[in-house]
Amino acid sequence: MNLKGRHLLNSTDFSINELFSLIELAEDIATYPEKYMDICKGKIMASLFYEPSTRTRLSFDAAMKRLGGTVIGFSDPDISSHSKGESVKDTVHTVECYADIVVMRHPEPFVPHRASNKLTIPLINAGDGAHQHPTQTLADIFTIYMYKKRLSDLKIGFCGDLKYGRTVHSLIKTMDRYSNNSFVCISPDNLKYPQEILKDIQSPVKEINELETCMEDLDVLYMTRIQKERFPNIEEYEKHKGCYILTKEKMKFAKKDTIVMHPLPRVDEIHESVDEDPRAVYFKQAKAGMYMRMALIVSLLGLDTPRENKIQKKKEQEVGIC
Ligand code: NCD
Repeated sequence: MNLKGRHLLNSTDFSINELFSLIELAEDIATYPEKYMDICKGKIMASLFYEPSTRTRLSFDAAMKRLGGTVIGFSDPDISSHSKGESVKDTVHTVECYADIVVMRHPEPFVPHRASNKLTIPLINAGDGAHQHPTQTLADIFTIYMYKKRLSDLKIGFCGDLKYGRTVHSLIKTMDRYSNNSFVCISPDNLKYPQEILKDIQSPVKEINELETCMEDLDVLYMTRIQKERFPNIEEYEKHKGCYILTKEKMKFAKKDTIVMHPLPRVDEIHESVDEDPRAVYFKQAKAGMYMRMALIVSLLGLDTPRENKIQKKKEQEVGIC
């Protein structure tokens, strides 16, 4: 895999092989974290968050620090020169002078894409409005792989706000690239997946309103929050708030090995009593996200990993170089 110097803007930017190499690297990092603890020594990550975040920002922070690197940036644009009227483009080109890699979240779609133009260091999109959230997809596919040992032949239910939820926009596009998957999209009529996303999906898609009726044959149930901040007005949000609540009782409809995922934060769409069910994997998913972000940082910086050294050595031995 050579991802050195690349940006990650959309969930389909990397090939299937590159995604699999990232999963393998994340697995290695999770198993042998001590081998990677100094790999980013001397490297700086700039973290530019123009929109609130807990997991994504903290997991990037933790990822860089666990690799021995340091982090600069802001989590509140009001304390940056943004509040003085500086453009995102100027901020990014300034940050380029100080950092080796930049992570950006912005409330407007495509701002990270534009900011990456002519940038000489890798830029990672950590969420652009209701558009995309590619690193959440990395966390999601690693989690699915950990539990299912495959990314194909799966029936996946996406439930909740499929209109504004960027995590489900990114994930369906990625899962559509693997063979023999099918999707059940569970949402109120007003919060269905946008047509411009569904029109490109090749796998079978079923759109329904009710959660309980489809639970019995799902391999993965991906719950999402109703995205309050993206509604045109609060009345519209109030109409949909609480429309799906997964409870312990409803979990009885699910298969023994269905996994329940959620990018978090949750509001009320998964009752806390579900947390103790071994099929509820959302906190494991948050942890998987940190390891995938570690793998991503190492790869975009083009650092030599202990794993690759080992593979290279093995190859050399096989062809008799050593
Ligand atoms: C998601 C996001 O920001 O899109 N959270 C996350 O990054 N894990 C989901 C959400 O906010 O509902």
